Amino acid sequence: MTMTPSFQPAGAPPGGTSPRHFLDLDQVETGTLTGILDLSRRLKAAGNANALGQARPLEGRVLALIFEKNSTRTRVSFEVAMRQLGGDVLMLDASQSQIDRGETLADTARVLSRYVDAIMFRTKEPERLAELAAHATVPVINGLTNVAHPCQLMADVLTLQERKGSDLSRRVVTWSGDGNNVATSWVKAAARFGFELRLACPEELRVDPEVIGWARTSGARVVEGVDPEMLVDGADCVVTDAWVSMGDEEQEVANRHNLLRRYQVNEALMARAAPDAVFMHCLPAHRGEEVTDAVIDGSQSAVWDEAENRLHAQKGILAWCLGA
Ligand code: CP
Repeated sequence: MTMTPSFQPAGAPPGGTSPRHFLDLDQVETGTLTGILDLSRRLKAAGNANALGQARPLEGRVLALIFEKNSTRTRVSFEVAMRQLGGDVLMLDASQSQIDRGETLADTARVLSRYVDAIMFRTKEPERLAELAAHATVPVINGLTNVAHPCQLMADVLTLQERKGSDLSRRVVTWSGDGNNVATSWVKAAARFGFELRLACPEELRVDPEVIGWARTSGARVVEGVDPEMLVDGADCVVTDAWVSMGDEEQEVANRHNLLRRYQVNEALMARAAPDAVFMHCLPAHRGEEVTDAVIDGSQSAVWDEAENRLHAQKGILAWCLGA
C-alpha cells in the first residue's frame, strides 16, 4: 500500500514547538496556504477515505469551538471535518461560559490548552482573537472577526480554482458591495494567490487602506473604485456579501442600503462580466438585497460548491494546524 506522507508544508515551524495558528492569510506563508489547499483538494477527491495515509488521522484529537457570534456553515463544517478525520469537537457557547462573566481570554486559553488540541474562535474584535492565540499553547483558528474571515477565503479560492484552474494569475475577481471583513480577506487572498482584485465599494465603505497598502506592497494587483458596472467588465468572478454584516446591526441600516443599492449583483451586472463568469457569496445571503434570486439560483452561481468547500478547506486547515 502506498502511504501518503504526513502533511508537512512549507512554513511549518522548526521543531514543531510553536502552535500552528491559522489567524489570517497575511500571517501564513503562501507556500503553506497552497499546501493546505492541495491537501483539501485531495481530501475532497478521496471522500471520507484516507488521503493522509491513515484512516483516522486526527483520532484522539479534540477541537474546541467558541462562538461569540452566530454561525451555521462554520460551526457545522468544522464539526463534520473534525469527525470525518477521526477527531472530536466540543462547543463552548461563550454566553454560557465564564468568558461571558469576565474570565480573560488569556486565562481561558491557558486552561483550554490543557484539555483540547486546538481552538477555533469566532469573535468581533481581532484583539480578542490575538489575546487567545498569544496565550494558547495549542493552535488557534480564526473562525471570523470583524476584520477577517480567512477560513472562508480558503474555501473560496478552492472553489475558484475548481472552476477556473489552479493558476489564478490571469483571473479577475470583482467584489461589489461593502468593504467588510470578507472583502478584506479577498484583498489578502489576492496577494497570496495572484489574481487581480477589483473592489467596487461606496466611498464610505471602502476596505481599510492599510490592508490595501500591505497587499500592493506584497505584489497584489488591487484596483479600487465606486462604479460596479465599470469594474465588473470582463471579470471571471463576481463576489458580494450582505449589506449589513454581523456587528453592523446597530448602525443605520437604511443608510447602508441606500449606499449599497447600486452594488446589487443582478442579471444586468453579471451580463457585464465574462460570459463564463462565476458568482460567489460566502452566505448567508439576503436575497433581493445584495443579490437577486436569478443570480444566486442561476447557472453561473457557485455558492453551493463554495459552501461545501468550507468542509474540505477546514480539513486542510485542521490537518496543517495539528500536524496530521
Ligand atoms: N460564511 C459563513 O461564515 O457562514 P456562517 O456565518 O453560517 O458560519
